[in-house]
Amino acid sequence: MLDGKKSLFSGMQATGTITLGNYLGALKNWVDIENEYMCFYSVVDLHSITVRQDPKVLRKNARDLLMLYIAAGLDPEKNCIYYQSHVSAHAELAWILNCFTYMGEMNRMTQFKDKSAKHSDNINTGLFTYPVLMAADILLYQADVVPVGIDQKQHLEITRDIAARFNNIYGDVFTIPEMYMGKAGRKIMSLQEPTKKMSKSDTNPNSHILLLDDPAVIMKKFKRAVTDSEGVIAYRDEQPGIKNLIDIYCATTGCTVEAALAEFDGLGYGALKQRVGEAVIAELEPVQQRFRDLSKNKDYINSIIKNNAEKAGYYATKTLRKVQRKVGFPDRIR
Ligand code: TRP
Repeated sequence: MLDGKKSLFSGMQATGTITLGNYLGALKNWVDIENEYMCFYSVVDLHSITVRQDPKVLRKNARDLLMLYIAAGLDPEKNCIYYQSHVSAHAELAWILNCFTYMGEMNRMTQFKDKSAKHSDNINTGLFTYPVLMAADILLYQADVVPVGIDQKQHLEITRDIAARFNNIYGDVFTIPEMYMGKAGRKIMSLQEPTKKMSKSDTNPNSHILLLDDPAVIMKKFKRAVTDSEGVIAYRDEQPGIKNLIDIYCATTGCTVEAALAEFDGLGYGALKQRVGEAVIAELEPVQQRFRDLSKNKDYINSIIKNNAEKAGYYATKTLRKVQRKVGFPDRIR
């Protein structure tokens, strides 16, 4: 809780642009909850450097991502959208929490194992303690809920463990966060391998739609989407490609599966792909237009960056000071 309101925290990596899966599964649904929760959306650039980054590219991606959040409809006056690196309390709390986290716990993290296999030339200790920084992110804002995908569940669990351990020793300092289920965003699958999640790290560009893809590119990717040889449009697990197209359509337009099936009755796969492609283009065009407008409006974006860093810093510092007192650091002299 913060100022009597429930608090929500989420972080997003600024690597490349985001996919239609991220948008339909997360961002689009967040627009509805800005009045219910005090929302913090952080572009987690501290996390990004656990793998090697080109500084110019990272800086550009971070700014693009921040603008995309706003372009997607999150009101930056109501939602605190900010860069993690602009609020030093994240790194400070992460250090303290490192001293309350065991090697054995970090060793069990499956994402660490995956990532260290992938980046075997750079297994740095930042990558190892990545979940502790995530815990700091969440706990600084006394988050009640954290909307994350299933791949981050283990990190949220360790956050809860660390928070409970700390509270156990020092009294009620941290809110124990829950995973946010909310209005279940649909899980959007790859257009090329529809049993796998849509991912921007997939090397086949036809597998995913990026939020800033040109309309013509979007249509081409849908036209190339993998289907099956059944030849009927049905919503069932045996036809994962068709099912995914229907899911994308429903998540985009807000219609039910039944309504979509009725609408598509008698269509061939080619026509189905065309319809889904058109719906997605219609949805993303205004987002892309807003993104282009925001890109031109540097002063406005800069003021958002500044104000939101201050706002996030205000709440984060409050928690940090409390923690510093609890662990026995000397009081600051004013
Ligand atoms: N690790 C998350 C991811 O890769 C991003 C993240 C960082 C995050 N800090 C967070 C998500 C705090 C939720 C809460 O998706």
